[in-house]
Amino acid sequence: MSQPQFVSKCTVDALQVAAEALQAGNLIAFPTETVYGLGADACNVNAVARIYQAKARPTDHPLIVHLHSVQAMGDWAADIPTYAISLARDFWPGPMTLVLKRSTLAADFVTGGQETVGVRVPNHPVALGLLEAFYNLGGRGVAAPSANRFGRVSPTTARAVSDELSDYLKPEDQILDGGACAVGVESTIIDCTGDGPRILRPGAITAQMIFESTGLRVRGKFADASADLKTNATSDSKSIQDSDLNNKKEIRVSGTLENHYTPAAIIYLDKSPVVGQGYIALSDFKTPNGVVRLSAPRDIDEFARDLYSALRKADDLGIAEVVIRQPEGEGIAIAIRDRLRRASNGR
Ligand code: TXA
Ligand code: MG
Repeated sequence: MSQPQFVSKCTVDALQVAAEALQAGNLIAFPTETVYGLGADACNVNAVARIYQAKARPTDHPLIVHLHSVQAMGDWAADIPTYAISLARDFWPGPMTLVLKRSTLAADFVTGGQETVGVRVPNHPVALGLLEAFYNLGGRGVAAPSANRFGRVSPTTARAVSDELSDYLKPEDQILDGGACAVGVESTIIDCTGDGPRILRPGAITAQMIFESTGLRVRGKFADASADLKTNATSDSKSIQDSDLNNKKEIRVSGTLENHYTPAAIIYLDKSPVVGQGYIALSDFKTPNGVVRLSAPRDIDEFARDLYSALRKADDLGIAEVVIRQPEGEGIAIAIRDRLRRASNGR
């Protein structure tokens, strides 16, 4: 079977070639600090359509447009509020996506037909090198979802992208290897279409950091550290009702679907692991006899960084059930618990 090119050395020349391939309408999987993305020219309807095919993703789920600089957000968004500009200045390049009112550049095939657009400047030298080379060729932005099949665990290594998507890519497409992702869970998505910021998907940029940048308290479900612990798993709706803007239209955030981020293994949270099961917990927790320890991170940052590769390891080893002890506390632990709750589907 024909496979995409796997580029292990992302030199300036290699990134130039990759940018040209993007411009020609091909798909380029690339590393970011969060997870790997599957990129296409955000202005090319056919290229973007191929992302949806390769991922088997429903076409009404919007894509994030990746940009090489803060300034370029003005190309894609209109009526940008001051607080969004503060966030962009403080946290880009970085693990944050801003949802803004779209400009005419942001076509329906990128926004899923919504009047908003998600934009982000990722903090990874390979991503930034690719985005800049693409911009210098006249490109405006790169639409990129996480480089996994729809509903599955996001890839945090180039090898995981290759295992997951090679069968759905062409020889003209490329997978750029930039090593393991430093953050390991997807960007914080912040809705900036209302009077103040609202977190749609928690990540490494926290409510506290948003408050320090903007002086505004974050509204909504992830507004404070304990909010997610108080939330009953079943009360979380499949999409977020945005009554502030959008005239009561629903914002579709596919990463907020229940039953998302799922490996083949069945995930149980906070149970005692038994013989034959996989186990992921902070290193303070010992591994019972006969249990397969998949990850023993020393802190929550390492927990986030290792989580998706540990879940993939379970599948590779053919482990049917994995017990995960959720990390407590704030910061990225909130994002970890959010993903675990979805991956475990209430178990
Ligand atoms: O860290 C990340 O954000 C990674 C890397 C590759 O940048 N990308 C990523 O993309 O996680 P994806 O497509 O797997 O998840 C992006 C989420 C989706 O749930 C999508 O619905 C939401 O962002 N999104 C994109 N544009 C949006 C918009 N205009 N309004 C609301 N949600 C939006
Ligand atoms: Mg995704």
